[in-house]
Amino acid sequence: MSSHIVVFDSGIGGTTVLEHIQASLPHASFSYFMDNAYLPYGKLSSQQIIARLTSLLHFIETEKLHVDILVIACNTASTSALAAIRALTTIPIVGVVPAIKPAAALTKSKRIGLLATPATTCNTYTQQLIESYGKGVIVDLYSSVELVAIAEQLYLTGEYSEARFEQEMQRLAVHKETDVIVLGCTHFPILAKHINSYYDGAIQLLDSGAAIANRVSALLNHGGEKGLQREACSILVKQKKPLHYYATASVLTTKLNIVRVKLID
Ligand code: DGL
Repeated sequence: MSSHIVVFDSGIGGTTVLEHIQASLPHASFSYFMDNAYLPYGKLSSQQIIARLTSLLHFIETEKLHVDILVIACNTASTSALAAIRALTTIPIVGVVPAIKPAAALTKSKRIGLLATPATTCNTYTQQLIESYGKGVIVDLYSSVELVAIAEQLYLTGEYSEARFEQEMQRLAVHKETDVIVLGCTHFPILAKHINSYYDGAIQLLDSGAAIANRVSALLNHGGEKGLQREACSILVKQKKPLHYYATASVLTTKLNIVRVKLID
């Protein structure tokens, strides 16, 4: 049996992390879970997010989903609820948090921006991340709910409004000395091309996708005998397995084969 990795996000943002993990572990089985009934998580409190993730664990248990690793591919959920959720399960959980450390190492101007949701920019976890890894660097916080909505629409329908995007970028008004922006929301790599061209390529964009794929690979490949056995079996699988998508609300697309589910409130 190959390893089963469940990737979770409020919406389709986590697919940007999923792609990295799939490239690293092409023979693993994947499920993608989006709690789009509560999208955007960026407007929720920590208590609400912990409640939703607790319900997700309940769903995994009642549906008897065998899960080797649960990836919380959502900076908002990870920075708000990781510790609380890890305490509730024995499933290994990998969280996605803003790449402050590599950004601080990369900046030459010593001024970086964290572009994330309002909940991520405000919470204690993020403040501690900045205090620990942003020493000697100015870290400006920029929060956007609008970019999450623009990314959802682009991914699901292919529709994109340049005017809407530019208006939001103007509102954010990133400081002119900034040379690195941390994409601290998994939805934002979907817009990386647009953000990059908005700044004429003058600002480097960093996300956590590749680092998360490395972490998941390391956990599976070095997770002791069990991990090694699973990977050994998985090399017999010749084709990429079909991906299961779960969603808690309807999704405006026909391109994904989605199973609607309900999480208990
Ligand atoms: N994709 C999520 C993140 O990384 C947030 C989107 C939302 O606000 O629901 O933070």
